[in-house]
Amino acid sequence: MNKQSLVGSLSFHLQRALVVRSEFGLRELMVRLLRRLGLGGRELAAWQKRKMEADAEFDRKFGTDTGGVQNLADEHGIVGENAKHGLAHIASDPLQFRLIMDTLNLPVSEYTFVDLGCGKGRALLLAAQFPFKSIIGVDFVPSFVEAARTNVNIAASQGIRGDIEVVVGDATQFILPSGALLIYLYNPFDSRVVGKVARHLRESHQEDRRPLVVVYANPVHLSEFTSCGWQFMTKGSGWVALTRQS
Ligand SMILES: C[S@@+](CC[C@H](N)C(=O)[O-])C[C@H]1O[C@@H](n2cnc3c(N)ncnc32)[C@H](O)[C@@H]1O
Repeated sequence: MNKQSLVGSLSFHLQRALVVRSEFGLRELMVRLLRRLGLGGRELAAWQKRKMEADAEFDRKFGTDTGGVQNLADEHGIVGENAKHGLAHIASDPLQFRLIMDTLNLPVSEYTFVDLGCGKGRALLLAAQFPFKSIIGVDFVPSFVEAARTNVNIAASQGIRGDIEVVVGDATQFILPSGALLIYLYNPFDSRVVGKVARHLRESHQEDRRPLVVVYANPVHLSEFTSCGWQFMTKGSGWVALTRQS
């Protein structure tokens, strides 16, 4: 397995662990991890170490605070009705993000990038390194949106584009802008909300048949997309890109 596949695979396993913890509790997660003791446990520890290093490296470079793992149970004022269906905040991996963009090779200057569940804005800042037409982040945790806006301003002072819009809202309700879209999901919600978002995006596309690409990283609930007519465009280790016929 090459380095990038390993990163994707480990990232996938950590997200699975977070899903188990959020849906079944810490005790069940520990039971499952103990069952896998040995190589599985070492892989997870190695991934966590590498992730902490990557987070620190990114934030050191830009003077931002986009990393760490934040549990939604510790956050206040979550908007909408889907708080219990959201997964913990964990920031995108810069290496995986670049790999996705290089593989997709889209004419990004024609596309708006929308991160549904943008957290503290890591993926927004990664997208800002590509010439997207515009960049928008949405998160239902007000303190994450505030942190993302602060991070955008800090990065802008380092020469990264500052015209990034970050809004508080529930992903299932977000009204998509017109024009070609790249929707980015970094395993933000459980199956119920992934299903709602997949149908919400399908309806938006039925009303406005523009190019629409969904990148789903750590696609734990992929069947929610494929079961409502989304088609594979391409896939890599730990991520998929989906689309619909225009
Ligand atoms: C795994 S983090 C991803 C962070 C960011 N996209 C990145 O790649 O760095 C998932 C984020 O989704 C947000 N989220 C979960 N459910 C949501 C919902 N229904 N609407 C909006 N945001 C949601 C959480 O608050 C969290 O910040």
